[in-house]
Amino acid sequence: MVERKRPTASAKSSDKASSPLTEVDDAATIPDAVTEGLSVDVPISADATLLVSATPDSEAMYSRRHSGVSATPEPSSMLTDVRLLDVKEKQVAPVGWYQRAIFELTFHTVNLGDSRRARARKELIARISTTFNGDTRYVPILTRKGGVGKTTTTTLLGMALAQHREDRVIAIDANPDRGTLAERIPRETKNTIRSVVLKAPSIGSFTDFVEFISRDVTRLHVLASDPDPTLADAFDEYDYNVVADVASRYYSLILTDCGTGIVHSVMRPIFQRANALVIVSGGSIDEARLASETLSWLESNGYADLVRNSVVALNTATQGTMLVKLDEIENHFRSRVREVVRIPYDPHIAAGSVITWSKLNKITRDAAELLAAFVVEGIAPNK
Ligand SMILES: Nc1ncnc2c1ncn2[C@@H]1O[C@H](COP(=O)(O)OP(=O)(O)O)[C@@H](O)[C@H]1O
Ligand SMILES: [Mg+2]
Repeated sequence: MVERKRPTASAKSSDKASSPLTEVDDAATIPDAVTEGLSVDVPISADATLLVSATPDSEAMYSRRHSGVSATPEPSSMLTDVRLLDVKEKQVAPVGWYQRAIFELTFHTVNLGDSRRARARKELIARISTTFNGDTRYVPILTRKGGVGKTTTTTLLGMALAQHREDRVIAIDANPDRGTLAERIPRETKNTIRSVVLKAPSIGSFTDFVEFISRDVTRLHVLASDPDPTLADAFDEYDYNVVADVASRYYSLILTDCGTGIVHSVMRPIFQRANALVIVSGGSIDEARLASETLSWLESNGYADLVRNSVVALNTATQGTMLVKLDEIENHFRSRVREVVRIPYDPHIAAGSVITWSKLNKITRDAAELLAAFVVEGIAPNK
């Protein structure tokens, strides 16, 4: 038979709620059919309450909740969290000024939950931070025209991803024509992709690899291109594969800032490895046409699937944006790719130097995060 103890006056109802065990109050409440065959032969002190589970498994069957010295030595399993910790359920304050005010004014008794905007933001961050198992994902950022914002988009996207994701994100500058990606974050090293190619055999750990990259406060890592255009132009298919193979050991997401020449030999492995693309378009007619032609070239060269999985970043900061119907450009791209995100003009970016996430306008950060969410959706596990 189950041994029973009278409940003590100090027994708390919250204890009941937090335990999967059944508290035995009174002999009359236990039908014989239930208690038959169960036995707990641990003697207990008079002021203790025993919690008896419905299964006859030895130590897991009970836990002491209340103070008092047991007449016999206790097994270590009785030192449970529930018994030893003074756990008070902490109310999490809602996000949103109105919701927060009600919460405080009612002494934490009325919790309306987060505001709609706060919930939407949490959902967006959850989309960006979606985990994926297995192979490293590759996302090139490209278009056939220079100066439309490829490097800016790579930086913004990389920062949005890096700060919300648990895994590591790197942006590689594979522009054969004097890339400027590394100038967008504080420079920590003079090493470049060329250094990685030359020293690849000796890179055996992440600590070794860190020597070659610069890091931003958002946790974005950047691998610079070669500042010498002759060397940068010589960076070819083989070199990119070496760099990508090394980086893929330490990063689950590799962004590649590309040059304008889509037929340059370095582009072949970039396209072959790509899981999704970000195509950058400016807001003028020629910029939109060149971005659209980039899509056509990809479609006719065997990358139609990639085109369908692309996101167009429509940079509205370029000259001429004010003169054209942006909605029509957006409609055009919407008919061809998965998503379109507008990147607004931001004076902090226009300075052309290091980009500090916290100094960006909120609408710029929002656009970068939306772009990041769309990109992750294109490379998540089921893609
Ligand atoms: N959204 C923006 N707001 C302000 N300036 C921008 C924006 N996008 C790009 N720029 C500026 O335009 C110039 C070219 O951008 P960049 O990203 O380097 O283009 P690309 O890599 O395509 O050549 C840079 O000086 C950059 O600071
Ligand atoms: Mg660039």
